[in-house]
Amino acid sequence: MKKLLLIVAMLCVPAMAGAQGMMHGMKDVKDERTVLNIPPKMKVMQKRMMRKHMATVATIVSLLAEGRLKEAGRVAKENLGTNPQDVKRCSRMAKMAGEPDFFRLGMAMHEKADELAMHADREHRKMTLKTLAELINTCNACHERYRH
Ligand code: HEC
Repeated sequence: MKKLLLIVAMLCVPAMAGAQGMMHGMKDVKDERTVLNIPPKMKVMQKRMMRKHMATVATIVSLLAEGRLKEAGRVAKENLGTNPQDVKRCSRMAKMAGEPDFFRLGMAMHEKADELAMHADREHRKMTLKTLAELINTCNACHERYRH
């Protein structure tokens, strides 16, 4: 028993040292992204929409895995594609925050989803997958630039 405790203790020491090292390294960590200046309630709504976007991406991946390309395209178009309502929403948010780049990055995502829908509808699997990666990178581009 004593031996076991000793072994556990020995295993924990490096882990604790590692954690301490990490905390130490965190002292200089700064989030350099631009803070979006929008009201708290709007942030809640935006994040809700974002979680829905993530769920949509998962649905698209599942449908592609099953070879249901046309359906994947429809899901992309309907949930992430360019539609007047989303364009207006993006534009309003960008104006409120005084961040034209937010609108530009948002539109890049919607337009990439349209492109994915087009390839999927033509059942071009390779191009659809390539565009899916590009679509995810349009999400990443905005996340790199802005935060709440
Ligand atoms: C135009 C900008 C923009 C685009 C494009 C964008 N996001 Fe976001 N997203 C944000 C911002 C801003 C946040 C809030 C980050 C924070 O909490 O600081 C966010 C947060 C999130 C979150 C976290 C939600 C939560 O509950 O904390 C997820 C998940 C997410 N985005 C998924 C996506 C996915 C998937 C896409 C692409 C299909 C995407 N986003 C495209 C701006 C964007």
